[in-house]
Amino acid sequence: MLRPATFAVVLAGLSSFITTAAAGPLSSPKRGLVFTPNATTRADDGIWTRKPTSLTWYYNYNPSPEPTYAGIAQSDFEFVPMLWGAPQKLDDTSFLTTVRSLIKDKGVNITNVLSFNEPDGPYNYGGSNMDPATAAQVWVKNLVPLQEMGVRVGLPACTGAPSGLPWLQNFLTECSKLISTGGKTRNCTYDFVTIHWYGSFDGLASHMGEYSAAFPNKTMWITEYNLNNQDLATTQAFYNITADYFDRLEFVERYSLFGAFRSDVSNVGPNAAMLSANGQLTDIGAWYMGRQATGIDPSEGASLGFRSVTPHGALAVLSALLAVAALC
Ligand SMILES: *[C@@H]1O[C@H](CO)[C@@H](O)[C@H](O)[C@H]1NC(C)=O
Ligand SMILES: *[C@@H]1O[C@H](CO)[C@@H](O)[C@H](O)[C@H]1NC(C)=O
Ligand SMILES: *[C@@H]1O[C@H](CO)[C@@H](O)[C@H](O)[C@H]1NC(C)=O
Ligand SMILES: *[C@@H]1O[C@H](CO)[C@@H](O)[C@H](O)[C@H]1NC(C)=O
Ligand SMILES: *[C@@H]1O[C@H](CO)[C@@H](O)[C@H](O)[C@H]1NC(C)=O
Repeated sequence: MLRPATFAVVLAGLSSFITTAAAGPLSSPKRGLVFTPNATTRADDGIWTRKPTSLTWYYNYNPSPEPTYAGIAQSDFEFVPMLWGAPQKLDDTSFLTTVRSLIKDKGVNITNVLSFNEPDGPYNYGGSNMDPATAAQVWVKNLVPLQEMGVRVGLPACTGAPSGLPWLQNFLTECSKLISTGGKTRNCTYDFVTIHWYGSFDGLASHMGEYSAAFPNKTMWITEYNLNNQDLATTQAFYNITADYFDRLEFVERYSLFGAFRSDVSNVGPNAAMLSANGQLTDIGAWYMGRQATGIDPSEGASLGFRSVTPHGALAVLSALLAVAALC
């Protein structure tokens, strides 16, 4: 993997990278699905596993796999369980029980697990709204035993806001305190860091640089990202350059674009969606799946005055909020 020093060089070369990055790569083994189904359009769920597809893994913010994908082997489309947030009772170990049972009773080859979704973000933006000490308790009860079984665990996925890094540092301190018993100092460990980002490519690259410096020698999963509420050409250029960037960087293990939904229900703006309003793959959707462009406009099939432009003031406020706050 690249060392932080190498990463600095990568960042320094960013502007030339931007101008030289051409079309995004079509296929990539790192790509996964953020599964966000809508009850009114469940037939769309099959789109993501129809061949040809370059998607190799998925998560659904839950401990259990999707019934829709139950017939697909882990080696074809790996399910990654997630411990979303704090259970009602802090000593609840149902996440551990569920995942252990998947492995031991059902023979599902679970090798990676994701932890807390935007714990530094409020509920109303999709965050799991936890303080680091609470998160540490839940981690020790549910994730440490899985680590002992050899399952790889990701550090919590904070928002892209400045609150993220301090939250994670506090979390690690609290967690290490909990497991340092009998006068013996131990540190909580994790196998990779997890990143969420909504905003520009420059912002994303610099955010990744901060994580790289804060957590040296760890690989990264970018489990939610997009450029929200921009015009189609800008959004497509962002898609291409990020896919290329993630594919080139060895320390980026996996990535999953937040956008596997229809444009008319998108909370990151219509152009960021991988499906048009009538459920067809947009260009970004097709590229992400490893296919050629479809030429489908995201707004296709939209009813009743669908607008891809938000009034200016609202847009500015919204993008500012989205850039810093949580989205799920
Ligand atoms: C994005 O990449 C595709 C091919 O993967 C290419 O056809 C398209 O022109 C690129 N668009 C931009 C804006 O870079
Ligand atoms: C699901 O789709 C319906 C119909 O398009 C829409 O009204 C609803 O807001 C969507 N739900 C979510 C959570 O996006
Ligand atoms: C489980 O998955 C891991 C990672 O892909 C692989 O190395 C291992 O061989 C798999 N184990 C089984 C029993 O299939
Ligand atoms: C725990 O982590 C701290 C800070 O990263 C480090 O200084 C210390 O040596 C580690 N302790 C153990 C026992 O690994
Ligand atoms: C990072 O890894 C390299 C070799 O893999 C090692 O020499 C170096 O000490 C590590 N740095 C840290 C901060 O762990």
